[in-house]
Amino acid sequence: MNIPVLQQQVEEWVHWLAAYGADPAGGVTRLLYTASWAEAQQALEQKMKENGLDTYYDEAGNLYGRLASADAEEGTILTGSHVDTVKRGGKYDGAFGIVAGLLALRYLKENYGPPARNIEMVSLCEEEGSRFPLTFWGSTNITGTAPFHKIKQIRDEKGISFVEAMNEAGFGLGRYRNPRREDIVSFIELHIEQGAILERESIPIGIVEQIVGQKRYSISCIGEANHAGTTPMAWRADALRGASEMIVAIMDAADRVGAPLVATAGKIEAEPNVSNVIPNKTTFTLDIRHPQGDALDAFCEASIAACDTIARNRGLRLQVEKQLDARPIDMDAALARRIEAICREQGLSYKRMPSGAGHDAQIMAGQYPSSLIFVPSHRGLSHHPAEYTAEKDLAAGVRVLIQLLYELGYEKEAK
Ligand code: GLV
Ligand code: MN
Ligand code: MN
Repeated sequence: MNIPVLQQQVEEWVHWLAAYGADPAGGVTRLLYTASWAEAQQALEQKMKENGLDTYYDEAGNLYGRLASADAEEGTILTGSHVDTVKRGGKYDGAFGIVAGLLALRYLKENYGPPARNIEMVSLCEEEGSRFPLTFWGSTNITGTAPFHKIKQIRDEKGISFVEAMNEAGFGLGRYRNPRREDIVSFIELHIEQGAILERESIPIGIVEQIVGQKRYSISCIGEANHAGTTPMAWRADALRGASEMIVAIMDAADRVGAPLVATAGKIEAEPNVSNVIPNKTTFTLDIRHPQGDALDAFCEASIAACDTIARNRGLRLQVEKQLDARPIDMDAALARRIEAICREQGLSYKRMPSGAGHDAQIMAGQYPSSLIFVPSHRGLSHHPAEYTAEKDLAAGVRVLIQLLYELGYEKEAK
């Protein structure tokens, strides 16, 4: 393996993909089914073809590149990550796993020819939940667990319905294959850590053992709009004041519980959002994560109860909508051992660790043996335009991926 060339190529391809959806204000914005998302998928499709892969889409908009085996009965080894981003996200979250998959498949094809079982890469259509209140649309379509009942109701900030956006992008119209996959033998996701542990400890590879559980809510407080100058404080039903109290109460409780629990209110909207009108409605999101399901449930229940009490005290009506309930899940132990052995052979130090971020691997792991491999993130910055991973670290991840895909795809007895 020519490591300097690999380093240069992985870096170049990450930057190439980041041009699709490059935000003039900095960072990358590729929301599901938007023009920049479609352009990125089309450019990837072209690059997959140029590099000798058979390409195809499924009905959800997941894009695949295949290195076909003569023996389809042997199932498929799948690698990849998501092409969508948060608003003004970084260049590496999701994108690195796609670019790495493409480089790895090209390397395997050039050096070893057709594999013993199919090896495929996937550019998953959606993971972040940044445009619509729905996450993991790409991977849940593959595992057959997508919440189809939800997509009929949800809309983006501009009022465009999910189904309309999907159809507009050409998906959900019966043109492509059914997304459900029954043939996957293993799923491997290579991803940036999005935390600072690997960098601080100077370790190039993280082998994820478990992905945290995560719940997301949208919480609305409904009060009454009124004149900011003529309404005494005691007579108000101020929705923004109630929401503020709720957020502070939940964050204080999270401080008291401490690590590994984390709680975030990342988005807030007030109505009518006018300086001299008491807000009649305020909606905020709540994202709560913990590696133990029971502890996660208990904290969420206590948080909702606290909101309820504050709403009653403030004369507000409370609406709570649960948008995500992902259980903590273990990655496959045999794959983790195999990755450890590869790291040892390649002289790379590694660390077994949990993931606090959500990943498609957690959805895939519900159905197929799955693995999540991390490379360091500079300063642990992620979901941020300054997200960065050094090219030598990107290349180390790709080398591990290549060897793992080789063992799983070319050595028939390996799984
Ligand atoms: C996805 O990136 C998440 O962890 O929110
Ligand atoms: Mn992300
Ligand atoms: Mn990601």
